[in-house]
Amino acid sequence: MISKATIDQIFDTARIEEVIEDFVALKKSGSNYKGLSPFTNEKSPSFMVSPAKQIFKDFSSGKGGSVVTFLMEHEQYSYPEALRYLAQKYNIEVEEDQPSDEARAERDQRESLFLVNEYANKFFQKQLWEAEEGRQVGLSYFRERGFSDATIENFQLGYSPDGYTAFTDAALKDNYQLDYLAETGLTKVDGQRKLDRFRGRVMFPILSHTGRTLGFGGRILKTDAKAAKYLNSPESPIYHKSKILYGVYQAKRAIAKADECYLVEGYTDVISLHQSGVENVVASSGTSLTKEQIALIKRFTPNITLLFDGDAAGLRASLRGIDMILAEGMQVQVVLFPEGEDPDSYAKSHSAAELKAYLQEEATNFLRFKARLLLKDAGGSPLEKSKAAREMVKSIALIPDELERQAYVKETAQIMELEEQILYRELGQERSQQRRREEREERRQAQREERSQNMQVVPEASGRQSEEGAAVTPAYNQEKALCWLLLNYGGEEYVFPSLRDEDAETKEDPPPETVASFVLNELAQDELDFAHPHLAGILARFHEHYNQGQPPPKPEDFMRGGDKELMQLVVDLISDDRELHDWRRKKIYPADRAKAIPTFTEEALLRFKEKNIAALIQKLQRDIPQNNEQPADPEKLQTLQRLIQLKVAINRDLRRIF
Ligand code: CTP
Ligand code: MN
Repeated sequence: MISKATIDQIFDTARIEEVIEDFVALKKSGSNYKGLSPFTNEKSPSFMVSPAKQIFKDFSSGKGGSVVTFLMEHEQYSYPEALRYLAQKYNIEVEEDQPSDEARAERDQRESLFLVNEYANKFFQKQLWEAEEGRQVGLSYFRERGFSDATIENFQLGYSPDGYTAFTDAALKDNYQLDYLAETGLTKVDGQRKLDRFRGRVMFPILSHTGRTLGFGGRILKTDAKAAKYLNSPESPIYHKSKILYGVYQAKRAIAKADECYLVEGYTDVISLHQSGVENVVASSGTSLTKEQIALIKRFTPNITLLFDGDAAGLRASLRGIDMILAEGMQVQVVLFPEGEDPDSYAKSHSAAELKAYLQEEATNFLRFKARLLLKDAGGSPLEKSKAAREMVKSIALIPDELERQAYVKETAQIMELEEQILYRELGQERSQQRRREEREERRQAQREERSQNMQVVPEASGRQSEEGAAVTPAYNQEKALCWLLLNYGGEEYVFPSLRDEDAETKEDPPPETVASFVLNELAQDELDFAHPHLAGILARFHEHYNQGQPPPKPEDFMRGGDKELMQLVVDLISDDRELHDWRRKKIYPADRAKAIPTFTEEALLRFKEKNIAALIQKLQRDIPQNNEQPADPEKLQTLQRLIQLKVAINRDLRRIF
């Protein structure tokens, strides 16, 4: 846990415009900055950064939030990762709270493993660039392979010397513990004997998407060796083969930008394509594609293109990977390289333009790819053909989107020269089988959840989901309108005449009051709170400030957390003019703000109260027995009558004002 003091210091120091400038070209535009959305491929800039409010808003994707949200969205960082990034950028020392002994031990261990790996990464690079052997053997090998110096540096390639313990000795001398060297697999320990794992190999560090060194791949250079050509780090607390994509650190921005990810087999494919200008490429390195790897790609794009060698023996095995991608609701295409070529060799023997053209032109949707593969085996017999069609429908059935499924069924019918009807029947059967499987799984999941969770956050009156995905509470729109007023106009002073008129002794206007104090007092009087968790959080902050005699919180005060949803909501509320449309519709123009804002405030309050009272009335009516067998609780009846009167009064007020 990063300490509160450090978090405050980070937010006090970081300037959103400076941070974003490292990723997006920004131009001054009034008091704001403008740029092209980094989340879409737009042509005219709709991405805004406000230095005054310390927020960004991307009008083309709808994303918005704080400097931390930006890093979480753009770099796919977690909250602590984003804070650490900022701390590093601004040279702030990160102070940690006291975690539990167990958590600390685990973190210390992981951290130690990272430190060892990062030491090794530097060591191998130094050997490659500076040591005689490294230059002669390693560097010249990479250069002969056609890797430029810039590429070698970008991928942090290195060389591990051919001694028995050259690396281990250096690490021990620099005070790294043998335990950690063993656990990362850099050193093989057998009793008293120690041995470098990657002797005499060129080194490919495997980085996390944030750039930390998780492990290594090492390629042997001697051709006569019986040893494996490539050797990888063993599984460890920081290296999980199934969760890793090689090249993701260098590729992630290009992937998000192109909205497309190329998936290749190995290290050299990634590096060669990258050098040829195709930077949105990663490798699953030595494993068949896993769910975790697909999930990692899905953080950046829903579109995957698989690149295969022309003579790949394992093409059929790739079909399973395709089905897994489809089931995630992602789009998958396939590019086959010519006989005897892999992406690496093709990139070498062709220009960058030729490579890009090839990728564009050869990309085939999974269906045609699968058909081609299956029909080649089928050899044309009708029975085999219908079997192949069934296989294709099985894949289609995995796609969550119905329209997409229909399009693919049509295409299958064409390719296979079969009736659509027959295929739809197959599809129906396959879907219901899958659904049964899913339902069974869901039931199991629900049972698990029921056991582990006994608190219901969503109030019973709701069942609908809002566009934000949060549960819609009974007075959601009214709560939102009030938050909108508080955030945008909370500190401004107005005269609020209407609601007080009736009981007032004089007809004179009451003294001016801030919007925040008016709203907070009105709500407090009736002991009303918001039901939506995030909106209630916003309201609580206003109460806090008010009770301590501080000016109302500003939108930017909400930008200091890790709750992406909350920040998105605040940014939407301060940049959304949906409510303004309402004003225009009602012909209350913001031009006469002195009247419009108090009127709008009063209306929002009344409507909020009305909604709450209506919900209470409903609840009471449900509680009070409707038959005559049993007398109703007189107290409840009284309350009900009072509430109904109140509702009538509110409706009268609403009519009076509007
Ligand atoms: N690969 C691997 N393990 C192996 C062989 C290959 O992980 N035993 C992966 C590597 O990531 C490599 C890719 O597959 O980048 C391509 O394999 P290959 O062409 O055999 O490796 P190269 O280093 O390109 O060897 P060569 O120069 O002989 O083509
Ligand atoms: Mn090769």
